[in-house]
Amino acid sequence: MPKLIAANFKMNGSFSFIEEWFNAFNKEDASSNEVIVALPAPYLGMSGNGNVKISAQNVSTKESGAYTSQISVSMIADNNVSYCIIGHSEAREYLNESNEDIKAKYDLLIENKVKPIVCIGESLETRESNETFDFITKQLEHFKNIEDEITFAYEPIWAIGTGLVPSDDDIEQVVKHIRSHFSQTVKILYGGSVKGENASNLLNNLDIDGVLVGGASLNPQEFAKIAQSC
Ligand code: 13P
Repeated sequence: MPKLIAANFKMNGSFSFIEEWFNAFNKEDASSNEVIVALPAPYLGMSGNGNVKISAQNVSTKESGAYTSQISVSMIADNNVSYCIIGHSEAREYLNESNEDIKAKYDLLIENKVKPIVCIGESLETRESNETFDFITKQLEHFKNIEDEITFAYEPIWAIGTGLVPSDDDIEQVVKHIRSHFSQTVKILYGGSVKGENASNLLNNLDIDGVLVGGASLNPQEFAKIAQSC
């Protein structure tokens, strides 16, 4: 099965940076995995030249109207994006997004045929107080009745941008916990300090369907190395 190798540029890049990134990445990458790049909204119309699919990083819960600054699902769909990240811990924290908001976004994306990537994951405080599994269960609550395939990204907040990665066993336990809520296939990506040097272990030895890469994805050679590691 090909894996999903997703880059999240977060609030980084420019027209020239992204154009150069695509040129450099397309020269390096020879993997048969599905490659996705989540671009900042102003650049969603940029093309990945066929073998790279474009993702948005967020979307509004509203369909249209007097919501200054927000970007609707039909607007991102107009740019031919294939995917949209929702529920990223940075959006949950800085934009005060709730689990209900994230489910509303999920429904709108499905209606508009854009595939959601639903981010979930615990803080260090939650992990240290042994509440990780309860916390994840709460984040999954609104998704329990969905019967179609869902893609989650398990991103422990304490692993994002810190260089820290949970042990293989800790990742496997959470992945198993997520899968236990669903009878259908769910895709689970791991995110949090994925780099060229740890991608092969994550992708080849653990029960995950891909990775969601922040910082290391900004380097096209390193991201290509990640995409080629399985
Ligand atoms: P880093 O790879 O920089 O830790 O970021 C992970 C992330 O938040 C991807 O969405």
